[in-house]
Amino acid sequence: MCGIVGIVSNKSVSASIISALKKLEYRGYDSAGISTISNGQISEQKCSGRVDNLEKILFQNPSSGDLGIGHVRWATHGVPNQVNAHPHSSEVVSVVHNGIIENSDELRKEYKEKGYSFKSQTDTEVITIMLTDYLKKENLINCIHKTLEKLEGSFALGVIFKDFDNLVVGARRGSPLAVGYGHNENFIGSDSYALKSMTNKISYLDDGDFCILFKEKVEFYNSDKKKINKQIFELSNEDNTADKGDYRDFMSKEINEQSITTKKCINEYLDKSRNDINIYNLPIDPKKINKIRLIACGTAYHSCLMAKYWIEEFTSLDVEADIASEFRYRKIKFNSNDLYIFVSQSGETADTYAALEKCKKNQVKTCGIVNVVESSIARMADFVLPIHAGPEIGVASTKAFIGQLIVLYLLTLKISKERNDIIDDEYLKLILDLKKLPELIEETLNKQKDIQLIARDFIEAKGTMYLGRGYSYPIAMEGALKLKELSYIHAEGYAAGEMKHGPLALIEDGMPVIVLAPKDRFFEKTISNMQEVIARGGKVLMITDDTSKTMNENIRFKFQIPKTNSTINSFLLTIPIQFLAYHVALLKNCDIDKPRNLAKSVTVE
Ligand code: G6P
Repeated sequence: MCGIVGIVSNKSVSASIISALKKLEYRGYDSAGISTISNGQISEQKCSGRVDNLEKILFQNPSSGDLGIGHVRWATHGVPNQVNAHPHSSEVVSVVHNGIIENSDELRKEYKEKGYSFKSQTDTEVITIMLTDYLKKENLINCIHKTLEKLEGSFALGVIFKDFDNLVVGARRGSPLAVGYGHNENFIGSDSYALKSMTNKISYLDDGDFCILFKEKVEFYNSDKKKINKQIFELSNEDNTADKGDYRDFMSKEINEQSITTKKCINEYLDKSRNDINIYNLPIDPKKINKIRLIACGTAYHSCLMAKYWIEEFTSLDVEADIASEFRYRKIKFNSNDLYIFVSQSGETADTYAALEKCKKNQVKTCGIVNVVESSIARMADFVLPIHAGPEIGVASTKAFIGQLIVLYLLTLKISKERNDIIDDEYLKLILDLKKLPELIEETLNKQKDIQLIARDFIEAKGTMYLGRGYSYPIAMEGALKLKELSYIHAEGYAAGEMKHGPLALIEDGMPVIVLAPKDRFFEKTISNMQEVIARGGKVLMITDDTSKTMNENIRFKFQIPKTNSTINSFLLTIPIQFLAYHVALLKNCDIDKPRNLAKSVTVE
């Protein structure tokens, strides 16, 4: 992962680099650093931990210079300490890197044999040494080109050179890099969001490209060193501000705004007068689709699992959901009549992107469901459906998950309608139910206090389980992931029917267990599985829309969600599982927006 930024300007750049790095902290927060060219020398300052630490260092010891690069790190090679923090500099060059250099061990050996020594344990430092070496015998373009040619793996790079004090170099292979255009200044950044306060004019490097930023122009080159032109995109001003408002953290803001984001997303796709869904021009005529394959990572994969249930329910299509890191290496039997759907909040996740690339190489039709419409996945997919959730800053995904579900649900209904798999009356009823969903989400959000009360039961727990059947099963998996990410408590989501095949052995007296049991066609069966847990001492938090009083004495706590049709009560089940993870983490004093060891946008394998 990691975030990189570079600026060349006619004024001091360190404050702008720091503010861009703060926006990139979602990509990593193990260390932070900056290099500028000041008085003809490379000035490098770096530290372990957050950008705030770096800012304090710069306050004591300001960094001047009108060009520079900055970095936030998510450690891959080498522990997250000050020495391994980027930039990595020699006398003549300073480098920031996002990605992994897979042949770094061989390169390290080769350059050690040439007499170079290394200060850090990182894979990045080989790039610094190679550039330093090539600079002795090559011009700048050849030096960059030869270095890039020798690297294997994925990278986005920012580089400054002591002897070229009017330029910043950027390069991309596999990891994203945006270029921003200003007035007498130009920028590179891992995403456009980091550059948005400085410019709304953006270009994107493609794999193999590199660029040279001067303050009055930008030159682009492809992997053959040929000069190329780039399209300039104008970013919309929408969602320009991502601040917490009165909330304690981004995650509570993002959970609580889900009724608004849901409404916005539904409005974007629903023709309210005709009660129809505005999704047209899919890359394959829905009637001709043979099969749907959904591919994603993390929370986005759980939204794919949910969609699998919906697609099976409402269409006659065969459907599969895959984890992108597995899909990309499997022997997939590609079929030109299959539709491949990639779901990603950031649109930059390396495994999802690589899986999409594999599909493109095999010339099949692809669709991206993303939150960031300028992202690499959005640009590569044949067809894009944005989720309109606005910037999501908390590392643990919440409103983007709900947004992905909405779009997948709408897409399912639309395909079903186009294929005549659903009768008009049922289609209309489902749409009318969906229109009411934002209000029901709001009603559920208003019951946050109930979850706050029960959260205390979890803080001493060794582990917990989330159980569900049918539509509730993917939400059980998402619930367990949320608790793990935020509170570091071991949690697993199980299909409730699987309990007796092993997991039941884990239940011991007082173990908290979350049972998702809406009153759908699986209700009775889920209740039987719940009783098996209670009989073995499990303390059950039941989340349900069932209002009957039966069983209450056996249940530690019952959280009531509003009634709606069973195919969409998964939206409502999601709210308490998000609140639970949030409040347990809060009681355990965990960092809510930046859980340990994680990052929001995972641009390495
Ligand atoms: C990271 C994030 C998760 C996210 C996953 C996939 O692990 O911490 O919240 O679900 O990446 O990210 P994407 O941007 O592709 O949805």
